[in-house]
Amino acid sequence: MRGKSILVFPINISESAAFAKTARELGVRVVSATSETILADEKNAGIVSLPYITDPDFNRSFFELLAEQGIDSVFSPHPGVWAHLQSLAKGGVSPVAFSVCNEPPLDTNWLRYGAAYQWARLCADEWGLASSVAAALSPTRYANLHFGYNQIPGQNDDVKLLLLAHIVRSAPTGDVVEIGSLYGRSAFALAWLAKFHAIGAVVCVDPWDAVSIKDQGDEATLLNRQAYDVDWEKIFSGFIASMSGFDNVNYIRQPSSDAHEAYMRGVATGGICSDEFGKTRVCGEISILHIDGNHKYDDVRLDVDTWVPSVKHGGWVLVDDYLWAFGDGPRRAGNEILQEYAVETAFVAGDTLCIQLR
Ligand SMILES: C[S@@+](CC[C@H](N)C(=O)[O-])C[C@H]1O[C@@H](n2cnc3c(N)ncnc32)[C@H](O)[C@@H]1O
Repeated sequence: MRGKSILVFPINISESAAFAKTARELGVRVVSATSETILADEKNAGIVSLPYITDPDFNRSFFELLAEQGIDSVFSPHPGVWAHLQSLAKGGVSPVAFSVCNEPPLDTNWLRYGAAYQWARLCADEWGLASSVAAALSPTRYANLHFGYNQIPGQNDDVKLLLLAHIVRSAPTGDVVEIGSLYGRSAFALAWLAKFHAIGAVVCVDPWDAVSIKDQGDEATLLNRQAYDVDWEKIFSGFIASMSGFDNVNYIRQPSSDAHEAYMRGVATGGICSDEFGKTRVCGEISILHIDGNHKYDDVRLDVDTWVPSVKHGGWVLVDDYLWAFGDGPRRAGNEILQEYAVETAFVAGDTLCIQLR
């Protein structure tokens, strides 16, 4: 008799694959099943066959699989399959005792939408913005923003999204520049907001390359080590997939200190070009600058010296991780902006310093 196992069925739904991976990571033995034709690589991966639940033979085959594999728990993200398995589990007809371990799939599906609508309601709050700024968008639009943003891996949270949704309403037209995009989570938000508020083009600056990513200081040793271990080509491909739904976006794959020259060349030659996004017109005047690259003081200071002079009057400079557990680079450089530039308004939201220049 084998140890107890969990059945994931049908395996060919994305939620099933994610659940099976997590269960295995937790040391649970997973049996994966499908009613579709099993391909050679699926067979090699140990995926087994079950009839469709509409097949008269389904229940018998299912009970046999439970007994054979010592299965006492089943996961199914398919609403119809879930309901049928739940009726078998609760109906006292199964010769093998088992339970369905997940909540009804339609309830689970709603969680992400519910969170999106709940967050969207916060966007109606005026945050003390002047009445001349652009009106808030509709809650349904904002729910779409929240939903898309949270599909993309990244450390920026819902507070960051909320502040972006607010400051964009008082941003002038111009280019939106992000230094440090990773998979594109905040870039997605900037592109989405720039599109719906007709702000301008979005330029993402990131080397996506371990060689150019310098260390972030002694206090960030844990992060420094990790930067060399990652596959930056995969992260760059993720960024491209995150952003490819927009036609107001492009990128400069260079460290921020070199990228300003490429940006100005784009201004002079009618646009920034890439294979994936084609040509994107930039005007050379920045409406929103999001500084989220290397957080070491010298690097943030270099970002400030290189890019802040291109920010328009009334434009925003956002310094991510102004409050940071791994060093004080963003805080020192952010405080220096407050001392050296004429500031219309400034506040900290979450961990980000937001400065609107006069
Ligand atoms: C904290 S992550 C950015 C997170 C991203 N904004 C998001 O929403 O998920 C920092 C990024 O900065 C990039 N980076 C590091 N040094 C840089 C530099 N000198 N110029 C531009 N980007 C840099 C890294 O490649 C990394 O993708």
